[in-house]
Amino acid sequence: MLTQRVAPSMMCADPAKLPETLAAFEECGVDLLHIDVMDGVFVPNYALGTDFCRALRRLSRIPLDLHLMIGRPEDKIGWFDPQPGEWVSVHAESTVHFERALAAVRARGAHPIAALNPATPLSVLDYVLDSVDGVLVMTVNPGYAGQKLIPATLHKIAECRRYLDERGRADCEIEVDGNVSFENAEKMRAAGANVYVAGSSSVFRDGDIPGNIRKLRRCVE
Ligand code: DX5
Ligand code: ZN
Repeated sequence: MLTQRVAPSMMCADPAKLPETLAAFEECGVDLLHIDVMDGVFVPNYALGTDFCRALRRLSRIPLDLHLMIGRPEDKIGWFDPQPGEWVSVHAESTVHFERALAAVRARGAHPIAALNPATPLSVLDYVLDSVDGVLVMTVNPGYAGQKLIPATLHKIAECRRYLDERGRADCEIEVDGNVSFENAEKMRAAGANVYVAGSSSVFRDGDIPGNIRKLRRCVE
């Protein structure tokens, strides 16, 4: 049985309140800090970079979950200095050297995660399954917070769970990212997800952050 994990999306956090937010996360037992790295080429937006990652490692003990939405990730993984126990997602669509990028993450002792855009078939995983600890199923097109769930991705989560189990990878985690609202999280959990990227749709929605985290946990446990 895989652990149900909550990963707040730091792109949605108020930068002026970072220390208080991180203290609340530590108190609530948040599992991972999701960092959206966007280069303006692979996705039509810029967000978060190496300095931000360094600052978070100084301010918090919660492991980082880097979501690399960048071109040529295999050349840039070292820039982020992934630490043992951290998670690093590489998009299948972002490189012709997908396995090389995943192996570069593994070589640093971090967990390699294969990220898939909504339109990308699961078959891109066929020959890299030994090189990953998880799959990040995008439930919106990457690039922006605040988008609406693409309904077909709910079936994709279920198919991904089946695909992994049939190949002896019941241990492989399924992370979901995009419009993980309280309502959608329940459906994603039922489909087989176990790691929830919580952005403007849940943790950073109106109300208090600890209350929203507790509510999200109740939806998926
Ligand atoms: C989408 C980002 C997400 C986003 C999720 O490109 O990768 O991490 O911040 O937040 P919401 O809940 O706004 O979809
Ligand atoms: Zn993300």
